Amino acid sequence: MNVYDSELLRNMLEESGFMSVNSLEDADIVIVNTCAVRQKPEERGIRYAKEAKRRGKKVIIMGCVAQKRKEKLLDVADAVVGTREFHRIVDILKEWKFGVLYTDFGSLTSYFLWRRKNVSFSEFVTIQIGCDNFCSYCIVPYTRGREVSRPVDDIISELTYLESRGVKEVTLLGQNVNSFFYDGIDFADFLKVIDKKVEIPRIYFTTSHPRDISLKVIRTVKNSKHIMPWFHLPLQAGSTKVLMDMGRGYTKEEYIEIAGKIREIIPEATITTDIMVGFPTETEADFEETLDVVKKVKFDHAYMFIYSPRYPSKSAIVYKNNIPEEVKGRRLRCLIEEVNIYIKERRELMLGKEYEILIEGPSKKSRDYSKGKTQGNLTCIVPGIFEPGTFLRVKIKEIIGLTPVGEPLQVISYPISF
Ligand code: 5AD
Ligand code: SF4
Repeated sequence: MNVYDSELLRNMLEESGFMSVNSLEDADIVIVNTCAVRQKPEERGIRYAKEAKRRGKKVIIMGCVAQKRKEKLLDVADAVVGTREFHRIVDILKEWKFGVLYTDFGSLTSYFLWRRKNVSFSEFVTIQIGCDNFCSYCIVPYTRGREVSRPVDDIISELTYLESRGVKEVTLLGQNVNSFFYDGIDFADFLKVIDKKVEIPRIYFTTSHPRDISLKVIRTVKNSKHIMPWFHLPLQAGSTKVLMDMGRGYTKEEYIEIAGKIREIIPEATITTDIMVGFPTETEADFEETLDVVKKVKFDHAYMFIYSPRYPSKSAIVYKNNIPEEVKGRRLRCLIEEVNIYIKERRELMLGKEYEILIEGPSKKSRDYSKGKTQGNLTCIVPGIFEPGTFLRVKIKEIIGLTPVGEPLQVISYPISF
């Protein structure tokens, strides 16, 4: 979401005559887009802003930390702009008017109607802003405000524009896309509409909420041409007691069941997740339940975190953060190890099979290789240099670490691949 906001703003500023640069030294103005989801990124953002200020730059702080700390940041920054008003940065810079604070939520923001000129082969499109879930550990509902779905026609117009610019893949963004609802159209209906009306080869969506994802959505993905079989389904914890304390609204068994349904209905689907350790009420036995879900579901990928108290979220106020750091560290290491066992197992199932990958660019590890993503959104590397945005049919030859290595078979041009 932050990447999307930053890209949108960069495009807006470039069209107004500003230029983006690659290093702090070369910048006259520094805009820090901040994240408040855990304490460390919050501190990192502020440290960066302070460093830029010390070097004599004009500094603007945007994003969730701006929304959270508001005027308190005017000591550190020349302007503070919240999550739904970042388009105002264009005016701040054009008018060279600093010392301002913009942190209103309003309803929907006008910047969605603006069409970026610079597009890459892979783009994000926000379909919903904010969140109403108030999971007890989470700051997002406070920093991104109430949940609002964008008008369907407005999203289709943006997607059609991106299609006309040759975009190959789009990721639809929302904190809980499964609760998308506009004018009687729910998320599954919405997917059906765009699958029919939009010819972008790959359409992804994130994030799904295990409580709200329906069989109707899973079947829609199954029967669609463009909606890709990737489900990001944050587990957070395996113990039903902890899930209740987190306010997640599903049990361990319900989670396992829905993941099972996904794999049953769409055997080639990938399931990725977010998991937290060290929530204040998590005992060793609760943590074991998390490992048990990992063992049963076998995720294709997972982002794993140590719980970080976030004021004013409920768990930060109600519970003491009293699990010792070394216990949390040990649980995290143990979880990563367990998750990797099953990622490896899942990757090995890919051996000898053919996949269509979309090339993203050169592999970081070796210059002679390119990296791309399967339809299930898994990174794969292939020997040779291919243009970003190329569709390539590959056969998986080996797994290095957790990364599949494919042999290129054929460059495919859409729509042959469908
Ligand atoms: N502490 C640790 N991790 C958190 N996340 C959200 N809030 C917190 C917190 N207070 C994680 C969740 C979420 C991901 C984006 O960040 O796992 O899914
Ligand atoms: Fe935070 Fe829960 Fe909303 Fe996700 S669903 S953004 S974890 S409150």
